[in-house]
Amino acid sequence: MKKVSLTGIKPTGSLHIGNYFGAIKPALDLSQTYDARYFIADYHALNSLKDPAELDICIREVAAGWLAAGLDTEKVFFYRQSSIPEVFELTTMLMAFTAKGLMNRAHAYKAALQENQAKGDDHDAGINMGLFTYPVLMAADILLFNSDAVPVGRDQVQHIEMAQDIAQAVNANYKEEVLKVPQAVVTESVAVVPGLDGRKMSKSYNNTIPLFIPEEQLHKLIMRIVTNSQAVEEPKDPDTSQIFLLYKLFASQQEQDDLAKRYRAGGMGWGEAKKELFRVVNRELSPMREKFNAYFNDRKELARILEAGADKARAIAADTLKRFRKIAGID
Ligand code: TRP
Repeated sequence: MKKVSLTGIKPTGSLHIGNYFGAIKPALDLSQTYDARYFIADYHALNSLKDPAELDICIREVAAGWLAAGLDTEKVFFYRQSSIPEVFELTTMLMAFTAKGLMNRAHAYKAALQENQAKGDDHDAGINMGLFTYPVLMAADILLFNSDAVPVGRDQVQHIEMAQDIAQAVNANYKEEVLKVPQAVVTESVAVVPGLDGRKMSKSYNNTIPLFIPEEQLHKLIMRIVTNSQAVEEPKDPDTSQIFLLYKLFASQQEQDDLAKRYRAGGMGWGEAKKELFRVVNRELSPMREKFNAYFNDRKELARILEAGADKARAIAADTLKRFRKIAGID
């Protein structure tokens, strides 16, 4: 039997190039060798996103985005978290095995608490129970599907460790392997994707290149990348240029070698370097952009795809839940 890889995608903003290389591509690569279950964590998003129109757009954006990037729904179970009622039943059961102290130590909760303390606000200001119990819902997402590997970014590793702790607490209580203990897979293959200002590309720095913007906007953004003031004729170091770092993500080895030579020889200005960058980025993104737009605008088709994925996922979910309930004496 193949091992199971599972990850959740929180729909809270437009996908950008950093997500593509840091999360989407590695997860799609894993789906070649694992039984993959990738889902849209819409109830996780609800903790912070209360505007229904905005949430709806975010959900359609990630769904259309992953499909456009090549997710194969024949192989991968692709569904919405909210379509799997077993997730919420398991969450309630896991609550009984989760120490409150464990939740007190979660980074996201601690950060919110510390911010309140620093501002002199009430410690609990703006903190809802969804944020506080976030790791339990996430553990249910994972443990329900007997997941072996959970591909995530560094910031999520603590949550996976908590899922391990919770699974182990259940297994220790019943003295058998009721729930499989998962492992985090942190994708470090790609170097940090630099953003428009040279810092790591991140939504919180407002320096991203969104994946599916129209071609003209993509061109404008790339032309806006911050550079130093080296003159056209000066030789340039490709290894310290964020334009070249981005170029490497999209270009073939041959293209990289050729362009590195031109950087080092001098005579090529930053404007020219950006033009080359735009060419390779747009080459990869334009077919994806078309697919993205088609999926994003076809609500019915999107719903059909996600429902079909949910049907397949629920069969497994029901099995795990049934087994656990029986062992727990709630039959
Ligand atoms: N918390 C994850 C994030 O913010 C999303 C997520 C929800 C998830 N459930 C999951 C990731 C289960 C992996 C496994 O990115």
